[in-house]
Amino acid sequence: MNQIDRIEKALHKALDDATRQSPPKLKAAMRAAVFPGGGRIRPRLLTSVAEALGDPDPAMTDAAGAALELLHCASLVHDDMPCFDDADLRRGRPTVHKAFGEEIALLTGDALIIEAFALLARAGASRPERLGQMLALLAGAVNGSTGIVAGQAWESERVVDVDRYHRAKTGALFEAATMLGALAAGAPPEPWRNLGALIGEAYQTADDILDAVGDAESAGKPVGQDEHWQRPSVVEAYGLDGAIARLDTLVERAGDAVPAVGDRERLVGLVAALATRLCPPELRAHP
Ligand code: IPE
Ligand code: IPE
Ligand code: MG
Ligand code: MG
Repeated sequence: MNQIDRIEKALHKALDDATRQSPPKLKAAMRAAVFPGGGRIRPRLLTSVAEALGDPDPAMTDAAGAALELLHCASLVHDDMPCFDDADLRRGRPTVHKAFGEEIALLTGDALIIEAFALLARAGASRPERLGQMLALLAGAVNGSTGIVAGQAWESERVVDVDRYHRAKTGALFEAATMLGALAAGAPPEPWRNLGALIGEAYQTADDILDAVGDAESAGKPVGQDEHWQRPSVVEAYGLDGAIARLDTLVERAGDAVPAVGDRERLVGLVAALATRLCPPELRAHP
């Protein structure tokens, strides 16, 4: 089975398990938050790291990838709500709060977060020696100190360091992706931290460029939001050319950060493809 099919299958199973007895609106909203997906970048990265290490425990890899993607989807549902970015469009469709109302959107995000931990806990029951570390890593990616919750909370501060904000908002989940990929394969996670952090930084840089010069139709979500909400962004901090130069440097550094594994070149290629997905050549050529 190819990587994308693996990831979709694991997510379908996760949603079936999570919504078996759910009230109908919540069930439909949870599905709408996860399907159809976007790039599935984080689970693809996680799976690629596990594969580079031989992927000896595919069920663990699939569960970790699905857990990470559920957290990501939950973060988008909450991020789009009126109290944050007040966005109407996500992945080219109405956002969850637009389609189902704010109450259900809040609960959808909550339920997806809880299911992420539950599914990893179930899958890891037969791997008790690794389970605690995997759950702690997942929690670190979303916590209120250096994870997504902290990232969103930085938007309520008067003084914000753009790097710190981005590391929490986006980098933390990418760091968890590479490290969980290693752990799922039974390998030490630490050598994979830097790679995840650099890809995360590159990815958010690309997203800031997209927000500054992209269009909503091809992005599938509103653009111009950083300026509208006066959010710190890489484009605001370094200018458009500076942001593009920074993206190139980060992608190169991320490629260099791929640890020495058997199929290293494949992973280096994937890194470049993932990090630049949001910033194709036509966007760079923008006047
Ligand atoms: C959007 O992430 C939020 C960012 C951190 C840039 P993605 O661009 O990965 O969103 P989907 O899952 O592909 O829609
Ligand atoms: C989203 O950040 C990252 C989250 C932690 C949810 P943005 O608000 O910049 O991302 P988009 O542009 O809505 O996808
Ligand atoms: Mg936001
Ligand atoms: Mg947003």
